[in-house]
Amino acid sequence: MLRTQTELACDLAAARAQTDALFQLVRPDSLFERPIPERHRMVFYLGHLEAFDWNLLAREALERPSFHPTFDRLFAFGIDPPPGQLPRDQPSDWPSLAEIDRYNQRTRDEIDELFSEVPEQLQHAAIEHRLMHAETFAYILHQLPYERKARAASGIPYSPTTRPREPQACCPIPAGAALLGRGPEEGFGWDNEFQAHTVEVPAFSIDRYKVTNGDYLEYVREGAEAPFFWIERGGRWFYRGMFAEVPLPLDAPVYVTWEQADAYARHRGSRLPSEPEWQRAARDAPPSTNVDFRGWDPLPVTAGDTGGPAPVQMAGNGWEWTSSVFQAFPGFEPFPFYRNYSAPFFDGRHYVLKGASPRTAACFLRPSFRNWFRPGYPYVYATFRLVRS
Ligand code: AVJ
Ligand code: FE
Repeated sequence: MLRTQTELACDLAAARAQTDALFQLVRPDSLFERPIPERHRMVFYLGHLEAFDWNLLAREALERPSFHPTFDRLFAFGIDPPPGQLPRDQPSDWPSLAEIDRYNQRTRDEIDELFSEVPEQLQHAAIEHRLMHAETFAYILHQLPYERKARAASGIPYSPTTRPREPQACCPIPAGAALLGRGPEEGFGWDNEFQAHTVEVPAFSIDRYKVTNGDYLEYVREGAEAPFFWIERGGRWFYRGMFAEVPLPLDAPVYVTWEQADAYARHRGSRLPSEPEWQRAARDAPPSTNVDFRGWDPLPVTAGDTGGPAPVQMAGNGWEWTSSVFQAFPGFEPFPFYRNYSAPFFDGRHYVLKGASPRTAACFLRPSFRNWFRPGYPYVYATFRLVRS
């Protein structure tokens, strides 16, 4: 679907409103905290969203002169260090909030003037980059101690149930072609989504529901390490939600690392779906409503189950790990305006996630969108489901 210039300008404004609202949830004295050791301090993201747009749209696309080269560089790129190589910068290494605010305001004013002159592909890239950070910033904020957060003004209040869910059921998927990637005529996608191609997939079956906290609790009772989002207090398990700890919702999906998901699957005599298997199983599956910033935490895995034949919540209510290493599709070309969006991560050390989480913007529900993280990275809203050959 093509979008007009007015709509694209609205999309940018809406994406800015989304990220502005997130920063409002951090008490100002806490922006120099680093809730996730492997990521930058939150203050980096405050400058990054604007510096990224500025570097891409004004400096590279339209060759406008820089008014603050140091900030353009300081806030240009995030980090993804391998395990054990944590950043060591201090809060005092960063500029003041007032200076960053001035930089941000000026870049926004100038971008608003020139946005309609920028090629449409770059307009989409700027909007989607910001929306991706609306999610990455949410999972960083998740790890900030509760007393440093301002309460959310909106979103579904989280009142999880502690019931076990309906029994797991199996969806048979016949052998056939999985459609991966996207074609040049299908509208904006990131470099790693191209090209469109098919992969033949043998018959398999996939679980109707994501693996739940209740399922995983049995595994923990058998001796497995507890997921990062859980905490034990007085012999009882709690889920560390965005704004409060709640008794572990047994019927909600469990957030785990790829390593935990893979080990659990093997322990159950099963395995994770490959990216083509996941894509094929998701063909006729409607997304969960818990997506596009509607909630902060997961709903029960059966929410939205209308009894159809397709697996439930393939997209929404938590990304799903696949067994596939993140790799280029045949014919991959990095975008010349952002050569390092995907290519540095084709290193064999990142796995593909599909679907979407409660904090994923609706545009990423397109089937070709691919997410990726390291197998031991515990901070993302990542769930999984099991398949059998
Ligand atoms: C696609 C979510 C893995 O967070 O590292 C944001 C998105 N890339 N800025 C990430 C991204 C550059 C990326 N993920
Ligand atoms: Fe970024």
